[in-house]
Amino acid sequence: MTFQIESTDLTLEQKASLLSGRDFWNTEAIEAAGIPSILLSDGPHGLRRQDSEADNLGVHDSVSATCFPPSVAVGSSWDPEVAARVGAAIGREARAAGVSVVLGPGVNIKRSPLCGRNFEYYSEDPLVSGVLATAYVRAMQAEGVGASVKHFAANNQETDRMRVSVDVDERTLREIYLPAFERVVTEARPATVMCSYNRVNGVYASQNRRLLTDVLRDEWGFDGTVVSDWGAVNDRVAALAAGLDLEMPGTGGSGDAEIVAAVRNGELDEAVVDRSVRRLLALIGRTVPPAGDVDPDEQHEVAKQVAADCAVLLKNDGDALPLSTRAAVAVIGEFAANPRFQGGGSSHVNPTRVDTALDAIRELGESVTYASDLAGNAVEIARQADVAVVFAGLGERDESEGFDREIIDLPAAQVELIKAVAAASRRTVVVLSHGGVVSLEGWHDDVDAILDGWLLGQAGGSAIADLLFGIANPSGRLAESIPLRLQDNPSYLNFPGESGHVRYGEGVIVGYRYYETADVAVRYPFGHGLSYTTFETGDPTVTVTGDDSATVAVSVTNTGTRAGKHVVQVYVASSEAPVRCPARELRAFTKISLEPGETRRVELTLDRRAFAWYDIELSRWVVSPGDYTVQLGRSAADIVAELPITLAGDVIIPVLSLDSTVEAWFGHPIVGPELGRLLAENMPGEQSEQARNSADWMRMVASMPMRRFTKLMAYRGVELPAESLPRLIELSKGGA
Ligand code: BGC
Repeated sequence: MTFQIESTDLTLEQKASLLSGRDFWNTEAIEAAGIPSILLSDGPHGLRRQDSEADNLGVHDSVSATCFPPSVAVGSSWDPEVAARVGAAIGREARAAGVSVVLGPGVNIKRSPLCGRNFEYYSEDPLVSGVLATAYVRAMQAEGVGASVKHFAANNQETDRMRVSVDVDERTLREIYLPAFERVVTEARPATVMCSYNRVNGVYASQNRRLLTDVLRDEWGFDGTVVSDWGAVNDRVAALAAGLDLEMPGTGGSGDAEIVAAVRNGELDEAVVDRSVRRLLALIGRTVPPAGDVDPDEQHEVAKQVAADCAVLLKNDGDALPLSTRAAVAVIGEFAANPRFQGGGSSHVNPTRVDTALDAIRELGESVTYASDLAGNAVEIARQADVAVVFAGLGERDESEGFDREIIDLPAAQVELIKAVAAASRRTVVVLSHGGVVSLEGWHDDVDAILDGWLLGQAGGSAIADLLFGIANPSGRLAESIPLRLQDNPSYLNFPGESGHVRYGEGVIVGYRYYETADVAVRYPFGHGLSYTTFETGDPTVTVTGDDSATVAVSVTNTGTRAGKHVVQVYVASSEAPVRCPARELRAFTKISLEPGETRRVELTLDRRAFAWYDIELSRWVVSPGDYTVQLGRSAADIVAELPITLAGDVIIPVLSLDSTVEAWFGHPIVGPELGRLLAENMPGEQSEQARNSADWMRMVASMPMRRFTKLMAYRGVELPAESLPRLIELSKGGA
């Protein structure tokens, strides 16, 4: 679709009407001007197109569509190709269904395991989230359908989500909560970005000019449309002025009237309206006509293949898995027959069909018995079988959009069941289905193997059976840490906040960044995941490629007897920055597939950002000069190789003021020596000798602002010439 329409061709009323929905899911049309409406639908792991009654909480039905693994599972794949296959497949369904924009992916960071919507997000780590979401958006948009990256920004809990102020410092925002958005925006150019409901440092995200315009557009170059989360606009005029283009859903014209009135009374420049109208017309203009026949069976097959790449094999003592098809298998638990495969709320998909693990296991195994629960004969069939496979997890009512969890335990009845089965059975395997982290404590040591499926979408049941019998080889890695106790999580004391505020007191030390820095044991660390084959990494090298970047290369060999996939994880550690940094941070990763005996050498780039921290005084990223350690890990806690490097980094010559500290003045490369000389010249000999000799004296005055220091010195009879400090300040600015 192309438009010749200029905003000047439309009346103010017409323009304002375009900036909010016609109804729940469609934008406004202006037929006389040839402007059609376009359809937006959820997202993110399948289409939720509603034909009749509309809602954004997943209460009313939607047209049936393929339910792919939700982001919690895709995150665990650590594989951009998996994310891309999901994005492309949903894009195809969306295009065939006449949907122009799919509302996803969600790239919010899993700050707490309690967030009710963690199933819709990828990871506790911004790199994993950003890389996967970028692949998803690119692939979806290549099908002609726009994506909507959400929820911008710092929407990391459901409690009080429509009002709460996220009180977060700038460095933490930049280093943890914004980078996934930044990567998607700069690398995949999404058609839209959806603002979140919450406030950020007191200002609603929907009317947060700093986020929606200064950062998103001016810094990152976003040129698409900003759309509100459904009902997130509080003050329509303030939101428009801040950079929010489209209000969804429609408000029956009230928002439009406010815009018109604000222009008429001079409160709002009409140019602001024109700017958003232009962006909206561009969004409508990129819509391609509905096309393509989507074969539900083919889509289902894609859902199955990607699901197998997402599950994480947490534990596999004595090679309990894979199962032999000849083994007598006792399948236990309701989820085997009625699977839990997606989360509740606005992303809830009406699946085209659902595979159950029980059916799939019956097809593959020669001897399979089944008992649904505690009340049945679970223990009895477990006793008679070679291996018991218990399906456990959280029900739909335990976690959803709209509320947060309060605990991370499995329901007590399931723990009892697992323990009773494990006591009776020769071997016990537990398969987990859940959206947010569940605790494995109280039963972990009783069982032989744990396969964590998270939520695997509509084909998850058959993918699980393939994994259990070794038709597929598990290759998922944890995208979030599994703590021993909820209390160990760094956000514990500041989640979900109180009195309308949630303070991100842990700063940048989120998830594994905390566990590794504070040396707090976890049950399974970020990045952990087993396979049915074994891998060896060897001959790692690192090459510095400039002042602030490097390349890592490593050989990976599949030393086992099955084909499998390995994730190379590269972390960076350093203490050169003058701010508190985590012990290590994931800075690059790649997933590779290897046949038995095959060796492949992979090369990963560590760009400038891999070594940078965000300097709030300079409002920019800085690479401190000095020593760094590049680490190869099987997980964040299991580092297998360390490679030291030294980077030239950024040469930053600070500009001094009278508020700069004595330490900064004396440490300044140009001003420091000059100041030392001046001071010595003006100090009585005895004092100067004492000062020079006293490290303690320097330590005591180091943090003093220069303004105070000069007063203290004057009191002690040391007067610097009046013009000297202004001259030195000029010198620090690069002056003569
Ligand atoms: C959710 C969004 C969703 C929208 C439309 C809101 O409640 O936060 O993620 O896209 O509804 O259903």
